[in-house]
Amino acid sequence: MPIYLIGFMGSGKTTVGKKLAKELDYQFIDLDNYLETKYQTTIAQIFKTDGEAHFRKLEQQCLTELSGLGSVLISTGGGTPCFFDNMEKMKSMGFTLYLDASPALLKDRLKNAKTKRPLLSQANTEEELLALIEEKLQARLPYYKQAHLSVNAVSVNIADLAATIRRYLG
Ligand code: S3P
Repeated sequence: MPIYLIGFMGSGKTTVGKKLAKELDYQFIDLDNYLETKYQTTIAQIFKTDGEAHFRKLEQQCLTELSGLGSVLISTGGGTPCFFDNMEKMKSMGFTLYLDASPALLKDRLKNAKTKRPLLSQANTEEELLALIEEKLQARLPYYKQAHLSVNAVSVNIADLAATIRRYLG
């Protein structure tokens, strides 16, 4: 069954996900990359031309397509668990893992990585970015917290995490 890695933008889903997939001998798939390859465009472009609601439909569709796969670790987008019944689906189709990071850490990681992320474009200063992250994280936590397992983004140990997941998966 798939492992779904969830968490806010900048929490390190791609970095942690790749290492964890290797440790578990799972295939790694980044949902954003999958979507961009499938539709031959960028997420920023989809937001610009068709809006967020359209992006969320495509994202849900891609998630559904990948959910039947076996030994695969899917790194989701920061908003994926928070729309439609995506979180329930991921929980029922596989194992969900939340990468927990504080607003201050997220702000430091995201301050130079805004261009790729349309949801952050309205923040012009670091203060505004932090406020936006805090607000969005607050709204998203009820979804993130439903994950089967939460792990701290700063202190994550890949070998230990892999061992814990193996125990969960039996
Ligand atoms: C989003 C996060 C992005 C991407 C899109 C929307 C979000 O993915 O899916 O820009 O709603 O938080 P990352 O979390 O990989 O940056």
